Amino acid sequence: RWEGEAEIDYVFKVVVVGDSAVGKTQLLARFTRDEFALDSKSTIGVEFQTRTLTLHRKRVKAQIWDTAGQERYRAVTSAYYRGALGAMVVYDVTRRATFEHVARWVEELRAHADGSTVVALIGNKADMPAGRREVEADEAARLAEEQGLFFSEASALTGDNVERAFLTLLEEVF
Ligand code: GTP
Repeated sequence: RWEGEAEIDYVFKVVVVGDSAVGKTQLLARFTRDEFALDSKSTIGVEFQTRTLTLHRKRVKAQIWDTAGQERYRAVTSAYYRGALGAMVVYDVTRRATFEHVARWVEELRAHADGSTVVALIGNKADMPAGRREVEADEAARLAEEQGLFFSEASALTGDNVERAFLTLLEEVF
């Protein structure tokens, strides 16, 4: 018996969705391996990464699923969402269109995921210079409130708020 595996109390599946190039893969890389790549390639199909952590003295394995934002690479079916206890809808604060598509992603989630799935809205690339910004945090916070989502801006590049956003989601799932 391999010790590390034996100690897992729960496996929590979390899915990450959002338009292409908003930074989904890099948010995952930051949370699971504390890494970041500037030359990140588009995800094709579906991948997942895991990180095991302790919550309320239980060993929880967070299994975080990442899929392509690009329509032509999307293999998303109900299987992707099935069993997801948490979800992150990601947009890029420097590209308004990615924020405008948030409602569509939330709809897709609601259509396929379980009714009790906890959903967080994440505005990524908060590190970008103010002049590049196309979505203000208070506008996104309003949308999140209307839709009943958690909200945070984050940066996969600097790591700002990434740990906190995932932990808040996992705590809420717990
Ligand atoms: P798809 O796989 O096509 O759906 O894209 P994705 O959402 O997984 O995006 P990905 O993580 O591949 O990142 C896209 C680009 O944005 C890459 O060049 C990243 O380096 C960059 N990027 C991701 N996160 C950040 C961030 O927080 N800040 C900045 N400045 N760039 C970022």
